[in-house]
Amino acid sequence: MERTAKKVESNIILALDLTDQNRRRILSRSLGTLESVHPHLCAVKLNRQAVLPLGLFEGVQKIVARAHDLGLTIIMDAKINDIGNTNRYIAEYYFKAGFDAVTASPFVGWEEGLEPVFEVARKMKRGVIVLVFMSHKGAGEGYGQTVCNTTTGKLEPQYGIFAFNAVKWNADGAVVGATYPDKIREVNEVLKDRVPIYSPGVGAQGGDVEAAVKAGARYLIVGRTIFEAKDPAKTAIQIQELAWKSRKR
Ligand code: XMP
Repeated sequence: MERTAKKVESNIILALDLTDQNRRRILSRSLGTLESVHPHLCAVKLNRQAVLPLGLFEGVQKIVARAHDLGLTIIMDAKINDIGNTNRYIAEYYFKAGFDAVTASPFVGWEEGLEPVFEVARKMKRGVIVLVFMSHKGAGEGYGQTVCNTTTGKLEPQYGIFAFNAVKWNADGAVVGATYPDKIREVNEVLKDRVPIYSPGVGAQGGDVEAAVKAGARYLIVGRTIFEAKDPAKTAIQIQELAWKSRKR
């Protein structure tokens, strides 16, 4: 993914969250959007609003295969958050369907929580991206709580502990909403570039491209602003150029 990003000079991940009353149209519109926008991307991300109507080993695999043909990494935004045994199977199914990485929620903890997800990912040479601070308005109610760190006994913000865990667990990415550039900066101080930050939330959710990247977001996840645009490729280029020139390195 990093190689593709450098080659095409883009740190944009397209969230292919197309919806339609007609399930077949979801697939054709998703593939159509991918065809027109792919030169401006380093990866694609799918969500359950694609997996539920299209089926993991049916429609979704067609998108996975096309993304790979185009040289793009494909991420499943699964936000895995059950007990370890269940999590292991969820991750395994997504990896068997060809996804290169999954997202997972750190609220379930390590032992009998996310440890099996990391185990299966390492075995299959895939990635795990953990949530640290989500992009939506209510994110602070969970991720922003002040909690007692069970290891140190000190009061700390929940997302600070999650950032620390992302490093400790050797995660492949940490998600911090582009809508909270101050949190991106703070989390980056903990991560120190050891874990790249993925930021959803620019455009449709109100986040600013330049502010998020300057604060330390390595990748921007963009959905509606691109695929609902009159000219998705043109919009993708505009975001791509602004995001790429805003990077520190
Ligand atoms: P939009 O249309 O708002 O889509 O550009 C954003 C995409 O990113 C997902 N999303 C998140 N995923 N942590 C995640 O792992 C988050 O905090 C987060 N916020 C948004 C969203 O589901 C959509 O696919």
